[in-house]
Amino acid sequence: MQLIPAPQLSLADLASAYNETRIDYIVPMPMTVERLKRYVEIYDVDLHGSCAAVSSNVILGLGMLGIRYQRGWITRLGVLPAGRRQGTGRAIMEYLLEQARQRHMPIMWLEVIKGNTPAHQLFISLGFEETRELIVARRPPAYRALGPGEQVFRPQVRNIRTYNRQGALALLEQRQDRPNWLNEVESMRKVGDLSAIAVDTSDGGRGWVSFQPSLLQLTHIVVEVTAGDPAGVTAALLQTLHQYYPTQDAICENLPENDPKWPGFEQAGYFDAFHRIEMVMPLV
Ligand SMILES: CC(C)(COP(=O)(O)OP(=O)(O)OC[C@H]1O[C@@H](n2cnc3c(N)ncnc32)[C@H](O)[C@@H]1OP(=O)(O)O)[C@@H](O)C(=O)NCCC(=O)NCCS
Repeated sequence: MQLIPAPQLSLADLASAYNETRIDYIVPMPMTVERLKRYVEIYDVDLHGSCAAVSSNVILGLGMLGIRYQRGWITRLGVLPAGRRQGTGRAIMEYLLEQARQRHMPIMWLEVIKGNTPAHQLFISLGFEETRELIVARRPPAYRALGPGEQVFRPQVRNIRTYNRQGALALLEQRQDRPNWLNEVESMRKVGDLSAIAVDTSDGGRGWVSFQPSLLQLTHIVVEVTAGDPAGVTAALLQTLHQYYPTQDAICENLPENDPKWPGFEQAGYFDAFHRIEMVMPLV
């Protein structure tokens, strides 16, 4: 088995190898060349620091390195099911960590889906430590109306303002929450068609939601509450958002598990699809 830099392979080969390594994955995430290209752009994947494990012209596994300033991020790691438990996953990880060290990066981040024991154990054995748990939430478009006698308590929306991409980015730049690699402003700057809606509520609450709308989905959703009850204002914001976009499925990735806004998401019909564990390791 040989580790080779990712640029020696085509994106089509990398996408197809990625799909092969994820054939039995807990959350299906099929990749196309176009998607991989977008992924590399949005999340600052450095293909020169990324690698594939190859034996007899077969890609056995791969791993990618994201770079932002002095921070590193490991992503897309996978080994073909038939080739696992032979040291390939560890060898790929060590290659990526070495690439980061050569670039004098002091810190490496990653996320692992909760319940993915092989990957979690691998990361712990390399020295990664857990920082927090993140929720990946979804909302189907046909969210059911309230049943008889059911009540929700959310403040009344008083003012609504809408923002174009530039306005949405300006809001994201001022964000107070600690974002995750996937939803930090460096990612959002590369997301096309970003929009935002801000509301004031009748009880003095304020906040905004930014998102990327498309025909079928709302993605890259970020909510920030700047005044008032976090859950109530979130529910009011999301209710407004889904009134504007009633037919789209919605996905919000990587909301911290203990975020006080989460009950507002639930009130607006979001459910907890799965969790990721964020991990970090200093590179000294
Ligand atoms: C996670 C993954 C990349 C590991 O690859 P691998 O080639 O099997 O890993 P290695 O043989 O190098 O094992 C390295 C360490 O991982 C851990 N590990 C691997 N498989 C494990 C398992 N089934 N159960 C528990 N720990 C496991 C162990 O700590 C192991 O060290 P050890 O052999 O000294 O005990 C592989 O299981 C995989 O591709 N899974 C599907 C995709 C995925 O989960 N990617 C990671 C997303 S964050």
